[in-house]
Amino acid sequence: MQRPATILGIESSCDESAAAIYHADRGLLAHAVHSQVALHADYGGVVPELASRDHIRKLTPLIEQVTADAGQPALTGIAYTRGPGLMGALLVGASIAAGLGMSRSLPVLGVHHMEGHLLSPLLEDNAPDFPFVALLVSGGHTLLVHVEGVGRYRVMGQSLDDAVGEAFDKSAKLLGLGYPGGPALAALAAEGRADAHAFPRPMLKRPGLDFSFSGLKTAVMLAIKAAPDTRADHADIAASFQQAVVETLVAKCSQALATTGAATLVVAGGVGANAALRGALAERGTRDGFGLYFPRLAFCTDNAAMIALVGCLREAEMRPGIAAAEVTARWPLDTLGPPVAGAA
Ligand code: KG4
Ligand code: ZN
Repeated sequence: MQRPATILGIESSCDESAAAIYHADRGLLAHAVHSQVALHADYGGVVPELASRDHIRKLTPLIEQVTADAGQPALTGIAYTRGPGLMGALLVGASIAAGLGMSRSLPVLGVHHMEGHLLSPLLEDNAPDFPFVALLVSGGHTLLVHVEGVGRYRVMGQSLDDAVGEAFDKSAKLLGLGYPGGPALAALAAEGRADAHAFPRPMLKRPGLDFSFSGLKTAVMLAIKAAPDTRADHADIAASFQQAVVETLVAKCSQALATTGAATLVVAGGVGANAALRGALAERGTRDGFGLYFPRLAFCTDNAAMIALVGCLREAEMRPGIAAAEVTARWPLDTLGPPVAGAA
């Protein structure tokens, strides 16, 4: 009889190194993340070469840690993030996965990072039912996706320029706040008036569900130049910026739910921690009658639990390690299909 899938997941697409072990019957056995935020803070953004080098230092100890935490289970396969992401960073995870696969005679699968995010709600006991609309908002992604099932994804909208988190970070930098600036900007916004500046609601008047945030950042820059340099002025700018982002996101989510007829909205990504966004979506959900679902923050931000989960769902697609060290820096989500039916 075949053993239940027990998959080691490895994530290294950007500035988090992570490892996890997921068991087909018992669920998540262990997961661990090392964030590189402190490493990149001085530069005001992720430095790809530093990210790659830090993944080399951190991934092996993280894998050892989750293996010990999970009680040294016998693995049946390895899943790593194949893309999208930073090429050098991805290569570190792919090489480690392929090496481990070869040395331990385990099959390996390169997983789509965004599929991991989309299915991360399944890591929770009270997982939402399919179909749902997912809003992924982080430092690197802004996506609205109709998720009808595993491997059945339709990208409905995405950012044409800056990701939402990136817009928060860049605006925070203009306001003299640290990196990553999202939480600091949100804290300052709580002191300000959201109607002080009439910032643009990007793309709201256009049909379609794509986003654009770079113009908003320029509006923030001009407002800072024009305003006296007091904390109260900056708080007004922060609050007005946040309001413009939140209104835009809420309107596009509403539209996506109406178009698809889905009754649940899943919000993932670091910006999902934003209290104003959560409040506004909850209000709209009550008004329009859709359910709102936030995975816990550790599963919203980059992690390997979601990668191990996808590996488990796609176990039949795993291949011998020697053939598997592939990375794909740009990889359209719509090209994935449902999992291949296998022995699992
Ligand atoms: O998903 P995440 O942890 O990682 C990556 O993108 O890699 O998202 C981080 C992003 C950053 O841009 C950060 O500024 C933003 O999420 N963020 C927030 C808040 N907390 C984190 N933005 C607005 N409000 C927050 N409370
Ligand atoms: Zn991510």
